[in-house]
Amino acid sequence: MKRTKIIHLLDADHAIDEVLVKGWVRTRRDAKGFSFVELNDGSCLKNIQVVADASIADYANVKQLSTGAAAAVTGRLVPSQGGGQKWEIQAREVTVIGLADEDYPLQKKRHSDEFLRTIAHLRPRTNKYGAAFRIRSQLAYAVHSFFRKRGFIYLHSPIITGSDCEGAGEMFRVTALDLTTIPKKDGKIDFSGDFFGKEVSLTVSGQLSAEMFALALGDVYTFGPTFRAENSNTSRHVAEFWMVEPEMAFCDLAENMDLGQALIQYLAGYLRDRSAEDIELFARFVDKDLKARIDGILAADFIRLPYGEAVEILTAAKRKFDHAPAWGRDLQSEHERYITEEHFKRPVIIYDYPKEIKPFYMRVNDDGRTVAAMDILVPGIGEIIGGSQREERLDVLTARMDEMGLSREDYWWYIDSRRYGSVPHSGFGMGFERVMMLMTGIQNIRDVLPFPRTPGSIEF
Ligand code: 4AD
Ligand code: MG
Repeated sequence: MKRTKIIHLLDADHAIDEVLVKGWVRTRRDAKGFSFVELNDGSCLKNIQVVADASIADYANVKQLSTGAAAAVTGRLVPSQGGGQKWEIQAREVTVIGLADEDYPLQKKRHSDEFLRTIAHLRPRTNKYGAAFRIRSQLAYAVHSFFRKRGFIYLHSPIITGSDCEGAGEMFRVTALDLTTIPKKDGKIDFSGDFFGKEVSLTVSGQLSAEMFALALGDVYTFGPTFRAENSNTSRHVAEFWMVEPEMAFCDLAENMDLGQALIQYLAGYLRDRSAEDIELFARFVDKDLKARIDGILAADFIRLPYGEAVEILTAAKRKFDHAPAWGRDLQSEHERYITEEHFKRPVIIYDYPKEIKPFYMRVNDDGRTVAAMDILVPGIGEIIGGSQREERLDVLTARMDEMGLSREDYWWYIDSRRYGSVPHSGFGMGFERVMMLMTGIQNIRDVLPFPRTPGSIEF
């Protein structure tokens, strides 16, 4: 007999004479002459209640089922006698698949997120983390569905790379060199004998690859792991995260912003319609403002605000920031949060940043001092999307690279793309974990990744 998942059992519209379920015991309660076992198989938030009468042949097995144990139950799906659930199973056969030692750490009380991080291998068995990772899966599917509907081509950009897209130098090196005898030349590491014959790293963004494909296929997107060795222990940064990066040919900054807004709104709507039960858990126990925030995202267009005006708002604010805002300085997360959470109380797209604080590939505006960059900020998170229109003019691009000390030889292929049918094009990167935080209200990015990688921490 094939097992039925609990999500389908709970959705049944009639009683079923024989079903088989397999799952893990959440609780067992014994009464006189029978036991209640709450079984969860991860297919949904709810458990199925199993009622096992002391008269069944396997009743001794039931008595072995402690919290955390795995069991198989066959029996009849019947309307539940007790309140709280529509269906329950009257057990005929109960088999122990795997016993749980009595020190199973997830007992019935509520555990802190900090504690659960120390048992990240078990936390998906809690209601909250089970729900979080079902939502994560839904969101990933929704990303693909959004782009597919719009005719985008999904691109697998490489993980190992020889170029530093963001120019921030926060990259993890990849090497096959013997680290006990590192070859050196003129005081520097000699990578010529290394696997690729040059210095390479894990990618910080798939953008440069995506640009090459947008200039051939039109609209493309990547969605994959991204790595940054920034040593910042914040609640919004991890060393390994997932980024969604669309790149569009024949597209300017305004259309780029339209797409960013449409994507975030689509994801919010998708989740609201399909993950109601899991979202409800977060709305009740994690973030009371969650639903209002999601409704706010769906309700209206995002504010569009030039960087210069953002700085004016910040300097006029009756508020002491740790970093004084001033034109030419990068916006700190305290500034971004003030603008989106306190000033506008809505998602805000800030655009046209000073060129000095942005990477080489962003298109220089006619004023000569700003670039066509845009960041989308949302309440509760701050920056969720960063993107730009790209510099398509060969002379401007190469001048900018020289100015920033980038080697033209290293980026010869990137420069090439501006020599053969160069067109205006734009794109952005959306941090997938930040989306998870936005949609669940989870405050710490460590809690939206299965096994987070942060400085000094890689236990699992
Ligand atoms: O703003 P970023 O650095 O933009 C880029 O990498 C561009 N090349 C993207 C593009 O235009 N194709 O990163 C994009 C987003 C951020 O807005 C943030 O949501 C997320 O990636 N992000 C991180 N998320 C988690 N941990 C980190 N360390 C992150 N760094 C960036
Ligand atoms: Mg950014």
